Amino acid sequence: MNHSAYVFDAYGTLFDVHAAVRRHAAEAGPEGQLLSELWRAKQLEYSWTRTLMGAYADFWKLTEDALDYALAKVPSVRRDLRGKLLDAYRHLDCYPEVPFVLKALKAEGARLAILSNGSPAMLEAAVRSAALEPLLDGIFSVDEVRRFKTDPSVYDMVTTAWRLYPGKVSFHSSNRWDVAGARKFGFHTVWINRTGQPDEYRDLPPHLVLPSLEGIV
Ligand code: LAC
Repeated sequence: MNHSAYVFDAYGTLFDVHAAVRRHAAEAGPEGQLLSELWRAKQLEYSWTRTLMGAYADFWKLTEDALDYALAKVPSVRRDLRGKLLDAYRHLDCYPEVPFVLKALKAEGARLAILSNGSPAMLEAAVRSAALEPLLDGIFSVDEVRRFKTDPSVYDMVTTAWRLYPGKVSFHSSNRWDVAGARKFGFHTVWINRTGQPDEYRDLPPHLVLPSLEGIV
């Protein structure tokens, strides 16, 4: 094992953010996927703008606001699905390889954590639904610093709490912009490019690119 700690982004990396709409695909209708993409894009936009403005609101509030926008923009999806979609978001499916990859790392003695924009309550619910609690040594939420990724104070939570040099942390994210932020901070970075996205932030490249988490063990 090359690193003291293996740290994972949550949404998109461990948990499938599009699983919420997929769970209600029949009711959402043909524009369900469009709604899901807009929901995610707005949730992230709000995280960046609110950090720049210094107007923090927790990630659950951003998730609700983003869904309200997406439902207004895609009126073919019935507004009364709102409650069901939010409930499904609270209990997202994890990607199929996640439990065995985390188990294998744990068996080798690695320290494992989540580092996420998610609020503590969201992350606890997601981790509980996926039965990942016994495998994790920490769940770091941006709620502690009240700034979202890619603010360096977010990545710094791990190195400060665990007294590690950034280079000792292997950080995994399917979000290329998050990989850029983590690389800038000094983490060893692995981009989990699940959907074959083109590269960007070329001055802040990942150390490794994998199609899923499987390749890290
Ligand atoms: C997170 C967002 C970036 O979990 O998906 O931090």
